[in-house]
Amino acid sequence: MCGIIGAISYRNIVDILLDGLRRLEYRGYDSSGLAIVDIHGQVMCLRRLGGVQNLSDAVENTILSGTIGIAHTRWATHGKPAEINAHPHTSSDISIVHNGIIENYQSIYKQLRECGYICSSETDTEVVAHLVDWEGKQGGSFLEVVQRVLPRLRGTYGMVILDRRMPDRLIAARSGSPLVIGCSIGENFIGSDPIALLPITRRLIYLEEGDIAQITASSIMIFDRCGNSVQRSEILSNIRHDSVNKGVYHHYMQKEIYEQSTVIKKRLQGCLKNNKVDFSELGSKNEILLKNLKHIQIVACGTSYNAGMVARYWFESLIQVPCDVEIASEFRYRQPVVRHNSFLITLSQSGETADTLAALRLSKTMRYLGSLAICNVPGSSLVRESDLVLMTQAGPEIGVASTKSFTTQLTILLMLLAKISYLKGMKPDIERNIVEALKVLPYRIDQMLLKNDFMADLAKDFINKENALFLGRGTQYPIAMEGALKLKEISYIHAEAYAAGELKHGPLALIDDNMPVIVVAPDNDLLEKIKSNIEEVRARGGSLYIFTNAQFCVLNIENMHIISIPYVEAIITPIAYIVPLQLLSYHIALLKGNNVDQPRNLAKSVTVE
Ligand code: M6R
Repeated sequence: MCGIIGAISYRNIVDILLDGLRRLEYRGYDSSGLAIVDIHGQVMCLRRLGGVQNLSDAVENTILSGTIGIAHTRWATHGKPAEINAHPHTSSDISIVHNGIIENYQSIYKQLRECGYICSSETDTEVVAHLVDWEGKQGGSFLEVVQRVLPRLRGTYGMVILDRRMPDRLIAARSGSPLVIGCSIGENFIGSDPIALLPITRRLIYLEEGDIAQITASSIMIFDRCGNSVQRSEILSNIRHDSVNKGVYHHYMQKEIYEQSTVIKKRLQGCLKNNKVDFSELGSKNEILLKNLKHIQIVACGTSYNAGMVARYWFESLIQVPCDVEIASEFRYRQPVVRHNSFLITLSQSGETADTLAALRLSKTMRYLGSLAICNVPGSSLVRESDLVLMTQAGPEIGVASTKSFTTQLTILLMLLAKISYLKGMKPDIERNIVEALKVLPYRIDQMLLKNDFMADLAKDFINKENALFLGRGTQYPIAMEGALKLKEISYIHAEAYAAGELKHGPLALIDDNMPVIVVAPDNDLLEKIKSNIEEVRARGGSLYIFTNAQFCVLNIENMHIISIPYVEAIITPIAYIVPLQLLSYHIALLKGNNVDQPRNLAKSVTVE
């Protein structure tokens, strides 16, 4: 949430900052701003409400040039989206950009007010700027000043600070919100996300929790939370910087929906060897953890949680391993009881979701056998802090609505299940059937994508609707949940998902001829059950949209639309059936004229509680 980029160079860095912000915009788009020290040694600070384009337009109308600067794109936490609340925040010679939340900002502000400081914004960040200024007046180097300030802050931060009087250095600090240094020759950079830095450098150093870095054009010094000088390893990112372009597509979400078969195919090619799942990336020593587990606890948020819900059905029905799934924000405060030989799996696209990360950290104080992160972002906090890691390798996902991260998570989970069954010495059929089904998955997804035009047409039925119900049973219940989440987050249509059997326990009261009911109903052993639920809706005049490959005796009679879906192997139906639902939501949002990639009030990665 929120994006940061900072640069110190021998050349003008204004375009680098703006380009970095554009690439980070998916992390927050309420406002943006930048501060640079110009050739006269003055700080030029520009801030604008709305997307980065507004800032970029403002920069065009200003003569702006400098070799050191910081910039920010904001997702509002403290203080409404407004120019006054946009970052950078300044206090005298100090400018600061900040991701995270300073929980004790009010008590700090109370003390600062007695020293004559007045905040002009509603933000927690401005208080930190004043605190750095005040502390600077007590003496010491810029670095020492920041080192004295940080222990006074409670909450989370990834922040970069600029002091006009020291235009040769930036100070960056990380606690609970990621920062990565981009190294180059004669210039260095800092960002909250490597995506911001990739066009300028692939040489990255991730800061660890509690680290403070002093960055000049030619040097990088890092100190841990105790003030000890530390070395953090430099890695070479293999993310292509052009992988964050839309290519031939109109929106990132559209591109990411269409990429699903390709990224899954590539991931499968790396893992399926001789009709077996090869997860050598886990390390053979670690396989013992998987062999010994007797229970799986999945923790995740949002779409990743929905993927976990599908996995629960799989783990229990296919290999009889008990599995619980919990929303991370509940898990972390619920004091859960750890089952015997339980193994923790976190699912996250970003690897930076604050609640999922907190749940992982909490699990380390509990009696789990170990932890596995299934994640899409290399180098993310979740990846670095988990015992085992399986990367989804879906490539950058920029659209706020998760699409390819969901289907790749499910693909990895299915392979993991096959691997566990093998390690536990279960019937070889289990692994064989999964591998056989996965081999055709990319093709099945391509077939689903052929439904695009149909979904574009169907979308017209929904533009004037205010509510929608999604129904499913078994592994399709979480697909109904995910379909409803996609619809609400980008089309702003209120959507709820129910296990179809729950209909008569309440939701049926909502059915009238203005309530579209989307039913996910592949031809499987639950079809007859869901047909009864369909009749319940039909009898009450609801408009039905049934996604199925089964034969229904009535075809497209009024208020009953059969959306004919190609055959899919039973095990992989949840992965394939979400694709038409993604397309439907995409087209509804498009028809409504919504910003598909940047839906209101949301941001891609939820790094605050
Ligand atoms: O990065 P994560 O997978 O941990 O993110 C979790 C949720 O914030 C995310 O899935 C969110 O629900 C998506 N915007 C849904 O499309």
